[in-house]
Amino acid sequence: MTTANLSQTETAADPLALIDVDHIRFFVGNAKQAAFFYAYTFGFTIEQMADLTTGSRDRSRYLLTQGNIRMLLETPLSKDDPAADELRRFGDGVKDIAFTVEDAEAAWKEAVSNGAEVAYEPLTISDESGTVTTAGIKTYGRAVHSFVSRTGAYAIENVKQGGDFEPGFKRIENLSINDFNRDNPCGLMFLDHCVGNVDDGKMNHWVDWYENVLGFAMFKHFDDADISTEYSALMSKVMASGNNLIKFPINEPAPGKRKSQIQEYLEWHDMTAGVQHLAFRTNDCMESVAELRRRGVDFLQIPEAYYETVWKRVDRILTENGHTPVREDHERIRDLGILVDADDQGYLLQLFTKPLQDRPTLFFEIIGRRGSQSFGKGNFKALFEALELEQERRGNL
Ligand code: FE2
Repeated sequence: MTTANLSQTETAADPLALIDVDHIRFFVGNAKQAAFFYAYTFGFTIEQMADLTTGSRDRSRYLLTQGNIRMLLETPLSKDDPAADELRRFGDGVKDIAFTVEDAEAAWKEAVSNGAEVAYEPLTISDESGTVTTAGIKTYGRAVHSFVSRTGAYAIENVKQGGDFEPGFKRIENLSINDFNRDNPCGLMFLDHCVGNVDDGKMNHWVDWYENVLGFAMFKHFDDADISTEYSALMSKVMASGNNLIKFPINEPAPGKRKSQIQEYLEWHDMTAGVQHLAFRTNDCMESVAELRRRGVDFLQIPEAYYETVWKRVDRILTENGHTPVREDHERIRDLGILVDADDQGYLLQLFTKPLQDRPTLFFEIIGRRGSQSFGKGNFKALFEALELEQERRGNL
């Protein structure tokens, strides 16, 4: 039996076996404009769209792609759309982390029978080329998980190759930013993890939810011990899908010396849980960050003092665990303002953007892994010092 056959058999046996992250859906105030922001700053291709001109009368939708990342930017066109109310309450942000599965309706039924609350009922749209079925469950706060199953031309293998996303979408041709992005890649490959901020005292509730509803398991990693520090002012646990396709760290605020970033997020998000950051994986963090900086991405500024201690800290951990030291040029890492952390399996390079919209809510992380499977806890102290500086500038400390 080949690996492909094996995975198909497993998928058939378990309706909640996740095949891929189908897409990340955002609610934004103006998808037409947001598309250009993400294309120019992060190098996404503006690939397909649906709006009034294509007969989509309720919402406009732009599909942006890069590597195996598909972002769907969605804007309600009427004030009576519930999405309009969400935009008023939360501003732009992530609504949906959608999973590709073999059979969306079966996955949805299984999740609901496991205790999930219904976000929306199964819906199939089709044309002569194939079908797309979606069904949604509610997760923390304003976020949902859609299950998506696809057939014919809309199968995920075809979508990955640039095929049509869904019936009714129009391909976007002759856009110079798409040509520019092809010639100047940012190197983002896939969604490494998706972090949620939940209400005070609710972390364990949502950890149990991912276990009971979706069959995820607690992901054991280096950061587990003493996750809450004076500086972090947060508690965090990581849940991973069965095949480790995707990891969901879940944060709750913890008491600290100053107002935590989790608390700040909640206060600007109508005291409602939601997605705090999306981490995109790159094979070459240096090249990615250099290109993103060239395009004007607003990254967190790392205090100069950080680089006075980082190599000693990281190399000690790597040596103790029999790994070779960080191979990237140390000076270039410092010049690019990249963070470094290590664990028993290796090291990682990471960097966080500032909030992507006016409210201090959603941001992105760029992450490159050299063996390390953790999330950069060693950077919490440095990160929090940098974050607090930003909070102070916004008058929110
Ligand atoms: Fe992260």
